[in-house]
Amino acid sequence: MHQVQVMSLFLFTLIGNVLSGSNHVFQDLKDREGVLSFLEYHAAISPSSSVTDKPLMVGLTLIQGADSSGAVCLDGTLPGYHLDRGSGTGKDSWLVQLEGGGWCNTIRNCVYRKTTRRGSSNFFEKQLPFTGILSDKAEENPDFFNWNRVKLRYCDGASFSGDSQNEASQLYFRGQRIWSAAMEYLMAEGMQNATQALLSGCSAGGLASIIHCDEFRELFPQSTKVKCLSDAGMFLNAMDISGGHTLQNFYSGVVSLQEVQKSLPSTCIDHLDPTSCFFPQNLVAAVRTPLFLLNSAYDVWQLRSSLAPPAADPHGTWKECRQNNAQCNSSQIKFLQDFRNQMLDAIKVFSSSNQNGLFINSCFAHCQSERQDTWFADDSPRIGNKRIAQSVGDWYFDREDVKAVDCPYPCDNTCHNLVFNDVVSNITFSQSTRLTSTPLNLLIIFLVLLCSIISTGFKFVR
Ligand SMILES: *[C@@H]1O[C@H](CO)[C@@H](O)[C@H](O)[C@H]1NC(C)=O
Ligand SMILES: *[C@@H]1O[C@H](CO)[C@@H](O)[C@H](O)[C@H]1NC(C)=O
Ligand SMILES: *[C@@H]1O[C@H](CO)[C@@H](O)[C@H](O)[C@H]1NC(C)=O
Repeated sequence: MHQVQVMSLFLFTLIGNVLSGSNHVFQDLKDREGVLSFLEYHAAISPSSSVTDKPLMVGLTLIQGADSSGAVCLDGTLPGYHLDRGSGTGKDSWLVQLEGGGWCNTIRNCVYRKTTRRGSSNFFEKQLPFTGILSDKAEENPDFFNWNRVKLRYCDGASFSGDSQNEASQLYFRGQRIWSAAMEYLMAEGMQNATQALLSGCSAGGLASIIHCDEFRELFPQSTKVKCLSDAGMFLNAMDISGGHTLQNFYSGVVSLQEVQKSLPSTCIDHLDPTSCFFPQNLVAAVRTPLFLLNSAYDVWQLRSSLAPPAADPHGTWKECRQNNAQCNSSQIKFLQDFRNQMLDAIKVFSSSNQNGLFINSCFAHCQSERQDTWFADDSPRIGNKRIAQSVGDWYFDREDVKAVDCPYPCDNTCHNLVFNDVVSNITFSQSTRLTSTPLNLLIIFLVLLCSIISTGFKFVR
């Protein structure tokens, strides 16, 4: 049920966009942005096999007055967050989760973002489900459930790191100011008394958590225990299947349009170009605060949008493999193993520091900390019998060193791999999806059929 509703929301958005207009809007949705939004949206409301309770829904707070320091979304609206207060032993502990959702690299696609929740708080959900690392239940989130847990919304298009504007298009690139205003606001809401804090984030938010990690540390006195977690934030500057640099070209647009260089650490900017410094491989070793990297070695967003995007695959020879890891042939697997090796190389120096943590599993996933089924459920992914929630907890609380790197694909049979279908009428998010014939569902089915040729579906297989 849940899953179907998620899909319908996505389809409503899609149809709304198609009806309202221009081709490029639709193209954007079909491209990496659409895939990513969908993935991340789904990440929060995922099928969960062991948990029957409805997730806690947490209301939105707009950051009143943020506009006085120019801290606004792409369209000039106020930024916002969702906060569930801690209790008991977690009363003075704070988890700040930075929302993800791709980036915008051109005026055109940033203008498009203004019409979505990725660029305007007018379109923010008024409530969000708190699952996985944000869950308030000990059996779903053993170490952080009673902390103050915040989800900071993402509406700037540059991982909370841009600082510029474009008058002609009425675009505000104010990620860095949103970051600062939000931290100031949360400090006043009680975070200044934190004895423990964890900055976290997934995807574009995982990259942001690396970029802002040391700044976060500096908000607190030395006596506060402060660490950072980046989930699916290790975007590699890798060569794509046609020998091009899809993601580097994309990042180059993001960084120059939004003037991200101002927010990037001087330890990188002083010897590399700004675009290179937006790649975490050039940042993580220099982060002084303890950092945990959680990533799948075959991150599906990177596979679909950076390594083997349709534009780099004119003959569609990667189409099947892009959608379903089980369809990759031996030479494609070899390419993916090479990508994994690049990932392991990129974190070599980082992992030599004993304050850092690692969980690099050999799954086809993206964002495993906010989904309940991947974070902490009976059948969650494991490395050496330890689930992600336990690994992150052991590292955060210094119970044990965690440097977990999985053996290469396909050795891991605990994965929750994501499988995509290009025909939406074949939606199966999970074994539990049911379609019943309520009027709403009939409407949804109609919409699904309408969209079946033009959008992307996706399901979860074990
Ligand atoms: C922080 O703690 C002090 C002392 O207990 C208290 O007076 C103050 O109100 C707290 N600040 C916030 C923002 O909660
Ligand atoms: C795997 O697929 C690619 C793309 O279709 C093709 O070029 C290659 O020859 C195939 N390799 C093997 C070993 O089948
Ligand atoms: C749905 O997709 C799966 C995997 O791609 C395929 O095996 C199955 O036959 C499809 N079902 C329908 C009804 O199209």
